[in-house]
Amino acid sequence: MVQREDLDAVITATPWKCHTPVCLAAMKAGKYAATEVPAALSLEECWALVKTSEETGVPCMMLENWSFRRDNLAVLNMIRKGLLGQIVHCHCAHSHNCMHWYFDAKGYPRWSGQHLLKRNADQYPTHGMGPVLSWMNLNCGDRIDYVCAVATQSLGIKDQLVRKYGKDHPPAKLDYAQGDIITSIARTVKGKTLVVNMDMQLPRPYDNRWMIQGTRGLYNEQRNAVYLEGISPGREKWEPFPPYQKKYDHALWREPIEGGHGGTDYIELREFVKAVRNKTQTPIDVYDSVTMTVVLSLSQQSITQGSAPVKCPDFTGGKWETTGPKFALDM
Ligand SMILES: NC(=O)c1ccc[n+]([C@@H]2O[C@H](COP(=O)([O-])OP(=O)(O)OC[C@H]3O[C@@H](n4cnc5c(N)ncnc54)[C@H](O)[C@@H]3O)[C@@H](O)[C@H]2O)c1
Repeated sequence: MVQREDLDAVITATPWKCHTPVCLAAMKAGKYAATEVPAALSLEECWALVKTSEETGVPCMMLENWSFRRDNLAVLNMIRKGLLGQIVHCHCAHSHNCMHWYFDAKGYPRWSGQHLLKRNADQYPTHGMGPVLSWMNLNCGDRIDYVCAVATQSLGIKDQLVRKYGKDHPPAKLDYAQGDIITSIARTVKGKTLVVNMDMQLPRPYDNRWMIQGTRGLYNEQRNAVYLEGISPGREKWEPFPPYQKKYDHALWREPIEGGHGGTDYIELREFVKAVRNKTQTPIDVYDSVTMTVVLSLSQQSITQGSAPVKCPDFTGGKWETTGPKFALDM
């Protein structure tokens, strides 16, 4: 694909180990690169993406669809209008029983399940982090300073395999490195905190548990509610979020949208293609792509070191201090 002259961009939606190599090849051939999540599997791969994008001048975008969710963009609009005050703390998660995706129909690990055998980390931080980057101005006014992480024991994989296939099923006898729930805590240089949970191998309904809190109020996705001091009726009582979503609806959603994941897949690809056609920066740039991704490597390192704080590199090389908000600016 990178040798063809009639292609302007390459998108990789393959198993994780191909993401960075495909993006590097695309950028080196002068073609826009886009990758499914996560963008990389190691710190070295994160740096390779950044350096190659900088050296070639070619953008690279991780396709994080939850950055484009209608509710999340309305919350971004509210934050930018100051309704929550100054942002202090945030919570996000990817809580989704993915046993059907880690294992094939006969209960043997697919390529994705192989990762559960090898590492104990938040292997899928980007869906939770998607909206958080712009909510917290990460890479545009602030950046992650360090991450500490803890892992629970690993019970869910074996329990589900044994119940479905019996205790003598060979994959039920394997040792899985991956803890059931990973909790990573990030602190930013400016002093905000962020909790990121990975919870993908216990039986449960889907959840992202987004919560963002500032000096004047907060948004809670699970409650579908906000509390805004001086605006919400009642003394420190929740009020429903849907009227706010309507009022602060983002311009990206002001026409009927259809497509996978509630229309977010369509919007992210449309915006990527627009950038390719106009030869402009992609809506999620290489710095944001690796920042959402790097929690994978940092959490693994912290867990290995007994939850010690692990410094997050400044992938922007200092540009975070002078760069203003950049995502979804056309409100
Ligand atoms: N954004 C989302 O909501 C979302 C949802 C599901 C999956 N994903 C991501 O999408 C990616 C793919 O996941 P999936 O569930 O579709 O996996 P899958 O195993 O169903 O599909 C992977 C595809 O890659 C192809 N492939 C494998 N090796 C290849 C190679 N060397 N060259 C070319 N093609 C190759 C396979 O033939 C297959 O078609 C993963 O990164 C996953 O994390 C994202």
